[in-house]
Amino acid sequence: MKTENKEILLRMENIEKTFPGVRALDDVSLTVRAGTVHALMGENGAGKSTLMKCLFGVYGKDSGKIYLEGREVSFRNSKDALENGVAMVHQELNQALKRSVMDNMWLGRFPKISRFLPLTSEKKMYDSTKKLFDYLGIAIDPETIMGTLSVSRRQMVEIAKAVSYDSKIIVFDEPTSSLTDKETEQLFRIIAMLRDRGCGIIYISHKMEEILKISDEITIMRDGKHVKTVSAKEITMDEIIRLMVGRELTNRYPSKSHEIGREWLHVENLSSQYANLRDVSFTARKGEIVGVAGLDGSGRTELLENIFGISARRNGTITLDGREVKNKNPRESIKNGFALLTEERRATGIFGILDIRENTVISSLGRYMAGPFLSKKRMTEHTKWSIDAMRIKTPSQETKIRTLSGGNQQKVILGRWLLTEPDILLLDEPTRGIDVGAKYEIYQLILELAAKGKTVIMVSSEMPELLGVCDRIIVMSGGRKAGEVDAKTTTQEEIMSLATKYA
Ligand SMILES: Nc1ncnc2c1ncn2[C@@H]1O[C@H](COP(=O)(O)OP(=O)(O)OP(=O)(O)O)[C@@H](O)[C@H]1O
Ligand SMILES: [Mg+2]
Repeated sequence: MKTENKEILLRMENIEKTFPGVRALDDVSLTVRAGTVHALMGENGAGKSTLMKCLFGVYGKDSGKIYLEGREVSFRNSKDALENGVAMVHQELNQALKRSVMDNMWLGRFPKISRFLPLTSEKKMYDSTKKLFDYLGIAIDPETIMGTLSVSRRQMVEIAKAVSYDSKIIVFDEPTSSLTDKETEQLFRIIAMLRDRGCGIIYISHKMEEILKISDEITIMRDGKHVKTVSAKEITMDEIIRLMVGRELTNRYPSKSHEIGREWLHVENLSSQYANLRDVSFTARKGEIVGVAGLDGSGRTELLENIFGISARRNGTITLDGREVKNKNPRESIKNGFALLTEERRATGIFGILDIRENTVISSLGRYMAGPFLSKKRMTEHTKWSIDAMRIKTPSQETKIRTLSGGNQQKVILGRWLLTEPDILLLDEPTRGIDVGAKYEIYQLILELAAKGKTVIMVSSEMPELLGVCDRIIVMSGGRKAGEVDAKTTTQEEIMSLATKYA
């Protein structure tokens, strides 16, 4: 059956939403049909999450109407939405980390043993969680403490939870930004199953390939407005990008012109105490951008964290400009001229109650001292640089960071580390969650740093990004270095075959 003929499940009409200083949604309408996947696309801050939060009852809309199966609805909160057949996997995880997986699954709706004995039945919780996980193919023990799971596993629990409500509409807001490739495939299988059951799926992502692979229809938003809704079969990637960005984006990678200098960083036989990092050695030059490729779990993140002193080192030495540095902990590493942008910056890098300027300067406060005081002028100048360079979408520097869109929060944290002017910049997935237009700007900043003689070491799971930005690429496999390739002459195939060497 053609998509247009399928029954309309959800209709959002003329939705408006304004926050102080921001018109987040300006007359946006959206129609989702039963048994289809509807992708929502747009730059960071375009209003995707806000539209979904208005549906889900997290935000009250200023005006507009929402119809679910023809009936007008207006959910007061997420509980209300869930009880009426709308579930959502949020962009940011919000879980009780000290409690078990099954507690998290059942939070707010604990099963009772009987109507007359209002106690929570552990057994019921366990059994039903186990049954659902088995059905979805998720291998997690329901009794595991949430906080001991990796972020990607926690995300899978969140997905299972959304599915467990047996909803008609399920919203996925950037579900794959922290999933491994395998888990992503698993999610796509789950989504296909839900679609075949007649659910309407709303899917938000910045990963183009994903969108074209799984969606039936695509709605593109820009600056809080609806731009276009098209059938996924009738549109190309370039066309989507043009509609999202509002201009032609001819190159996805800036041209390189930086000069590579003398040997600067030397890492020798690095092994971790507890994790699987074994005998990794490499060198990096001044002004060089070194990529780190590998499959999930190959030790890429581990390598950066070990260099930075986050995880315990069993043996190995790090030499910077001929002088050994210990980097026993992050503080010492920062003093030695290293900076690390972590993969999970939303969980670990953001000070939600502080504003954008405070979040920007917080790691280099020393630079802003004027006598015993902090120089507001200098802090303001630097924050302005960061906002302009990455086109961070915010009403002002005094805006609380937690009110920014997910992608814009990421940019603020990246700006923070760029401002520390490190000699060695370690970047873990620097463009995750960032829209295509802004990615280009971030690549440009990375290249500028290299041109200034800084060394950049960058982990990425996007191969084209490594090939487009780096000078040289180290390939990790099973915790070891499987090889090293020249980004100019290598191919994706060569990198892939190295990546599976010890896997
Ligand atoms: N609680 C809030 N208070 C103030 N402004 C907000 C709030 N939530 C969102 N905004 C603003 O609304 C606009 C749209 O944000 P939204 O989170 O919907 O973007 P998005 O399309 O989901 O972007 P991303 O791809 O980065 O996640 C942004 O300018 C954002 O700063
Ligand atoms: Mg969002």
